[in-house]
Amino acid sequence: MKIMEKIKAKARASVKRIVLPEGDEARTVKAAEIIASEGVAEPILLTPDFIAAAENKARLETYAADLYELRKAKGLSEEAAAKLAADPMYYGMMMVKEGDADGLVSGAVHSTGDMLRPALQIIRTAPGMKLVSSAFLLESPRTEFGEDGLLVLADCVVNPCPDAEELAGIAVATAETARTLCGFEEPRVAMLSFSSKGSAEHPLVEKVRKAAETARAIAPDLILDGELQLDAALIPEVAAIKAKGSPVAGRANVLIFPDLQSGNIGYKIAERMGGASGFAVLQGLAGPCNDLSRGCSVDDIVNTVAATAVQAGNRRRRD
Ligand code: ACO
Repeated sequence: MKIMEKIKAKARASVKRIVLPEGDEARTVKAAEIIASEGVAEPILLTPDFIAAAENKARLETYAADLYELRKAKGLSEEAAAKLAADPMYYGMMMVKEGDADGLVSGAVHSTGDMLRPALQIIRTAPGMKLVSSAFLLESPRTEFGEDGLLVLADCVVNPCPDAEELAGIAVATAETARTLCGFEEPRVAMLSFSSKGSAEHPLVEKVRKAAETARAIAPDLILDGELQLDAALIPEVAAIKAKGSPVAGRANVLIFPDLQSGNIGYKIAERMGGASGFAVLQGLAGPCNDLSRGCSVDDIVNTVAATAVQAGNRRRRD
């Protein structure tokens, strides 16, 4: 992906410590070597043996005690907290939480849910953010779309059924990711639907319209419009017919899907049938954590670590 050169250059400019909880997995070990040799980040490979080593005992005890404090109101016992803290995924999350690592990348072995749940429970949302969501960086061979073929899509990974307010939050967060991670000078956000500017009436369309209004109220300077169909969002000729005068239609570079089913299906159609490629990052967490696909390559891990390191540089800390 062309965007990766820019992201890696940004990551090299300020080297961050990225923890890899799947530290005995072959692709992860290989990726860590490349990450270190290219200077993209300082990788920390976690293994159960590393965590249990005598010289790390004090840190494990601290993490167990802090994890218990964090989750006791949710019913976590001291014994269960001690057991969880020794699990590399939870240990890695505690490292990010406590500032002993700047970010985390996992998912070569664990499922999305197994990685997301501890991130949501331990790292939690960044100040001012109500929701964690994802942004998918999709690079198309069709350079007339987005920014030289690059589009940012959301939410394709996390929130199954966002309501209008949550959808507005996802739109604003994704525009911010497009700016800070992808270097878009002018994010132009299309709130997608099966209707363009009133061409259909349905409660699902109304949700998208309401989300667009809410997003404009939260971020009045953001260039955002909806509801728009995908063709009206991307193709100038269609925009001229379906959404005349829209500041976004025909030139959108950020696409917001109405729910997870459409978002997840949408990016997979672009990849499998349209020859596009890409990967997702999480947004809205107080410390950057990112998920891999279990079918990921060594390069995918290197790229996700680089993106996580850049997100760490833009991190909004929770006091
Ligand atoms: N933002 C912030 N916090 C959240 C969010 C969110 N989006 N979702 C849940 N939480 C919080 C909850 O408030 C809760 O906090 P608490 O325990 O402190 O009260 C905690 O996270 C756990 O929430 P649950 O509702 O118990 O967790 P749930 O079982 O619903 O899991 C998850 C949340 C994992 C994000 C779920 O929504 C999910 O599975 N999403 C889809 C993931 C997926 O399968 N994606 C598609 C495949 S990935 C791909 O194709 C690349």
